[in-house]
Amino acid sequence: MLWTRKTFLYCMVVLCVFLFVFLYLKPSSPQEIWLNRKRFRNFHKLNANELILCPEMPPNLGPIVINLEEDISFLHTISENPYVQFGGRAIPQLCKALQKIAIIIPYRNREPHLKTWLHYMHPFLQKQQGEYGVYVVEQIEMSTFNRAKLMNVGFTEASKDYDYNCFIFSDVDIIPMDERNLYRCSQNPKHMANSLDKHNFRLFYETAFGGIVAFTKEQFLKVNGFSNLFWGWGGEDDELYNRVVAAGMKIERPNPNISRAKAILHQRDPGNEKTGKSFHLVKKAAQLMHEDGLNTLEYEVVARTEHRLFTKITVNIGSSQ
Ligand code: UDP
Ligand code: BGC
Repeated sequence: MLWTRKTFLYCMVVLCVFLFVFLYLKPSSPQEIWLNRKRFRNFHKLNANELILCPEMPPNLGPIVINLEEDISFLHTISENPYVQFGGRAIPQLCKALQKIAIIIPYRNREPHLKTWLHYMHPFLQKQQGEYGVYVVEQIEMSTFNRAKLMNVGFTEASKDYDYNCFIFSDVDIIPMDERNLYRCSQNPKHMANSLDKHNFRLFYETAFGGIVAFTKEQFLKVNGFSNLFWGWGGEDDELYNRVVAAGMKIERPNPNISRAKAILHQRDPGNEKTGKSFHLVKKAAQLMHEDGLNTLEYEVVARTEHRLFTKITVNIGSSQ
């Protein structure tokens, strides 16, 4: 009897030691990785206010290779970005971010481009120590595409979610080639697509303001956002440029050696034809800025999905008629 009790106790001790070693010390067990991550996040949340500010220039940034031939699934990108939370949000793990950034992407029927963008951009933005959320603003079928109005919707909806102070309006088909091209806002509105491969890494024209632009919340409110009146391809970015000038702000552009980016080549999308009907409005920006924009924006949110890699807002923005 005594011997059995001793053996039992002995076995229990061995079992405890085994469990301890297996669950807590075995570094590669999935439980441990998961537990560590959970502990780290809790720690991070508790101490968020005590963290020091992230540096202006995060460490170890440099050129990256972009391979547009790859077919990358959402699942693959999710598995490679364990710190990205639902809605496509992330915060730096070791410091307090300098800005709260919403990335707004106008969207319709471009899933392969979206997959590529997410695959490259989540690691890119995290390496830049960004606190950010990705918003894909999808226009429903039926009406002519209106890139600018979708940007206004993205700004309005993202602002309801969180106290974002920087908004980066980006096409889905432009991927930066250098991590030193900081996705952040500056003293002035910033044009970030000034060095695209399809334009031989040169500014396409003096007043170009398309592709990717970054505005602080104040800067975007100051110009009353984009015009809502540009249906179909072209002109809305030129009109925005004129708004910025009319509001007395300057345009900034990054060093073109650093803002080199790849533009995914594609055919003009059906429903986004160049009609040129709104082009006459470009010159009227100074006046239009007060009469049309965020202050006249009307839309209906049809669906909102918190995907693991982005928040998708599907909207009915009406039509040109
Ligand atoms: N876009 C989209 N679906 C469309 C048309 C446009 O998603 O049917 C979005 C997408 O983000 C794209 C941007 O609007 O990158 C600008 O359109 P486009 O690429 O045709 O303009 P380009 O850059 O060729 O002048
Ligand atoms: C259009 C812009 C466009 C640019 C570059 C201009 O003629 O008005 O909207 O971004 O060309 O393609």
